[in-house]
Order: sequence, then structure tokens, then C-alpha cells
Amino acid sequence: MTRENIETPGPNMDIYSSAYLAEYYEIIINSILVPSDTSAYWTAYKNMMSLRTLDGPTATYLVIDVGTGNGRIIREMATAVANAGLNLHTTEFIGLDTSQHMLDRAASIPIKPKPASVSWIHGSAVELASMPPFDKGVRKADLLVFGFGSISHLWRDGEAEQFLRQITFILRPYTGRAYISVHDNLTEGNQKEEPPLLDETPSKSFPNIIYRKVDGEHIVNGNRCTTKAFFEATKDVNDERHIVEKAQIDMDLRLWGKNDISNLASQCGLSLVDTVKGEEETLLNMWKVRL
Ligand SMILES: C[S@@+](CC[C@H](N)C(=O)[O-])C[C@H]1O[C@@H](n2cnc3c(N)ncnc32)[C@H](O)[C@@H]1O
Repeated sequence: MTRENIETPGPNMDIYSSAYLAEYYEIIINSILVPSDTSAYWTAYKNMMSLRTLDGPTATYLVIDVGTGNGRIIREMATAVANAGLNLHTTEFIGLDTSQHMLDRAASIPIKPKPASVSWIHGSAVELASMPPFDKGVRKADLLVFGFGSISHLWRDGEAEQFLRQITFILRPYTGRAYISVHDNLTEGNQKEEPPLLDETPSKSFPNIIYRKVDGEHIVNGNRCTTKAFFEATKDVNDERHIVEKAQIDMDLRLWGKNDISNLASQCGLSLVDTVKGEEETLLNMWKVRL
């Protein structure tokens, strides 16, 4: 396989927009990108419990993971809770994502310690308050997570502000907390070379499928970063290679300045409680100040 073979045009897609791409993303995140945010979210969960005592036998905590992808953060949080000997039957999880393919992966991977409920909801960060269970204005989230730098997906004018305002509608007053991750590689002037992504990798879910990806242009223009890549999924049948999917991946991401998000948040009715610096990202912990 040469670069020339793969760099012939396929349809424009984003990196989460097919079942093959969703699996490819999962392979990369498990083998190359490998986030180290588990302990921060476990601490966030413990804080949530210390901030609000459940007030009856049927009361529950509500945790929403925005941009949940394959549900990694929810599964890791559930495992940490169970490993600490705590019961999950008072926790409801919602994983929200704009990609149904990512949600399908999330739903296909079991969560071993059983929470009160898990729902995988198709929808966008910018319309949180109009989606169940928040649309009636009664249910409130105790903990909201937008992990692994995903707020950089909100690159269009006004989108991040819209998301931050939506948080104020759904977050529980006083005790609710939102944790928003800003990835170091997606901050202005601080872009490191990404580790080279796997050129060729076999699927673990689809028999005889091989993924190939070649990185294309990576352009930084002000606070916007645009990356291109070429992707294909092939299947070998009787020694013949068949292309089963071909795509040109285009991805726009917003690069954030040091205080951009906390400044926007305070205009939108949220206030910074503290920041948690991890190996490759910073978590901004916020609460709602306009009640
Ligand atoms: C970098 S991945 C992170 C996945 C997961 N949170 C993790 O840490 O493994 C970003 C995810 O955000 C989703 N996403 C992008 N824009 C979104 C939006 N406006 N609302 C909700 N999810 C979005 C993508 O489909 C993708 O699954």
C-alpha cells in the first residue's frame, strides 16, 4: 500500500462518522493516545457524593458524559466506584454524542458493575437543555463531564458559549459540578507533534478488515486547526483486496487561549471552582453561579 493508492478521493467524512471509523478511533485511543484522566474523574465522582447527600431511598445521582464516544469515561468511573466497594445503584449515567456510530460502540461494550441506569443519547452539547431527561426542567445533573479536549469540537462562532449556557440550565444549583477538559495540544501556541498514528491496523470487531490511514495537511490559522487524513477499510477475500470504505477525513478544531474558556464561562453564568492539571490536559471544574 502506497500513499498514492490511499490518497485518491473518497467522500468527505468526519473521524467518527462510520462504524469502521468509530472502531478505528477506539483502537487509537486505547493504543496511542491513551488518556490518563481516570483518577481525576474518580475524584470528581467522590466530590459529587460529598457535596450532596441523597435524601431518600429512591434518590439518585445523575452523571452526564457529553461527547461520550465509546463510553470510556463512564465505564472507567463505574469501575473505580465498584473497586472502592461503593454501590452504583444510586447513580444514573447518560452518555451523549453527536455520532450514532460512537454511541453504538458504547452500547455494545458492557458496564460490569451495574449502575441504576445507563442511557446513550444522540444529541449535541449545544442543545443539552432540550433533550430528555432535562427538557422538562425538573431533572438536574450532579456531575457533567466534557472529556479529552472535546470542547475543541465546538469551533463554530458562539458554539462554546451556547454549550456553557446550556450547562447552567441542567446543572444542579449549588452542588452540581461541570468538568471541562482542555487538551494541551489544542491550546494556542502549544501544539506538539502528535505521535504518528498507526498506518495499518487490523480490526478487532470486524473479521478480515484492515484499516489504513495516512495523515494529510495540518493547518493552524489563528485559533483554528484543520487536519486532513485519508482512511480506508479493506477486506481480503480469496487473496483479493476489496475496499469496503474509503474516506477523506476533514476535522476542524478550536485552539483555546489560556483563560478563554473560564472567561466565556463567567459570561455565561458559570464560575471556576478549581483546575486539575493532568499529564496532557487541564480539567476546569465549574459550578453554576446564576441560580
Ligand atoms: C475526542 S472524542 C472523546 C470521546 C470520549 N469522551 C473519550 O474521552 O474517550 C470526542 C467525541 O465528542 C463527540 N462530539 C463532537 N462534537 C460534539 C457535540 N457538539 N456534542 C456532543 N458530542 C460531540 C464526537 O462524536 C466524539 O465521540
